[in-house]
Amino acid sequence: MVRLAIFALPLLWLSAHASPAPRSTDSNIGTFVPLRIEGKDGTIFEGPIFTRGHNVTTPSGGNHHCDGTNLGAHPTPGPTATSALADAAKLKHFAFDGTFDPKFDDFFITSIGNSPETATQFWGILADFVFTPVGGCEEQVSAKTHVLWAFDAFNAAAFLFLQGPETAIQGVPIELSVKDGLTGNAISGASVGEGFPPTGANGVVTVTFGTPGLKSLKAEKEGTIRSNALTILVI
Ligand SMILES: *[C@@H]1O[C@H](CO)[C@@H](O)[C@H](O)[C@H]1NC(C)=O
Repeated sequence: MVRLAIFALPLLWLSAHASPAPRSTDSNIGTFVPLRIEGKDGTIFEGPIFTRGHNVTTPSGGNHHCDGTNLGAHPTPGPTATSALADAAKLKHFAFDGTFDPKFDDFFITSIGNSPETATQFWGILADFVFTPVGGCEEQVSAKTHVLWAFDAFNAAAFLFLQGPETAIQGVPIELSVKDGLTGNAISGASVGEGFPPTGANGVVTVTFGTPGLKSLKAEKEGTIRSNALTILVI
């Protein structure tokens, strides 16, 4: 009995503290979410967007809640992948559309900017380079979630992830690396900009900047989703 009591106490304490703390209703005050939208021909949006859970309206789908409580996914409202998209569209004045499916209690995004879906190419949503298992109004996001909307996501051979130093010295070579964000595999033959060689077999390319200033590079390769922008201050 004595032994049991000694062991039971810490267990009780653990289970009490392991359960998630109840979230107050002001959890939906809003936050800046890192958002990237990669369209057919170019990047439609990249940067932090202030968003909170709220209703979203589309021409084809109408006005519906979009705060993570959709289909009971979360008990309390909060920012979502689709609220972020809607707020970016409002801020940057690009259009988007989606149908609404009452069964899924969510929008199915059919078009963003100049990139409407086709019979074989659809928009996909990734959070931190993982396809979201639920719809964009169910998927709650935070300031720490990298949200990516990608055109033709389901046919993409890779989702490029460009890494390198944030600063460089004019005339001094630096190394940049391109990987697949999903698998971590090195991506060869990717372009990081005009005038630079493609990445080698190890996904690495050496570049040298001839002029100072703030440079923004993105990696691209046919059949893949273009990368995040890497901003390098050349001094
Ligand atoms: C938000 O959408 C819900 C349906 O999901 C609707 O019942 C409600 O009236 C809408 N609220 C506003 C403020 O438009």
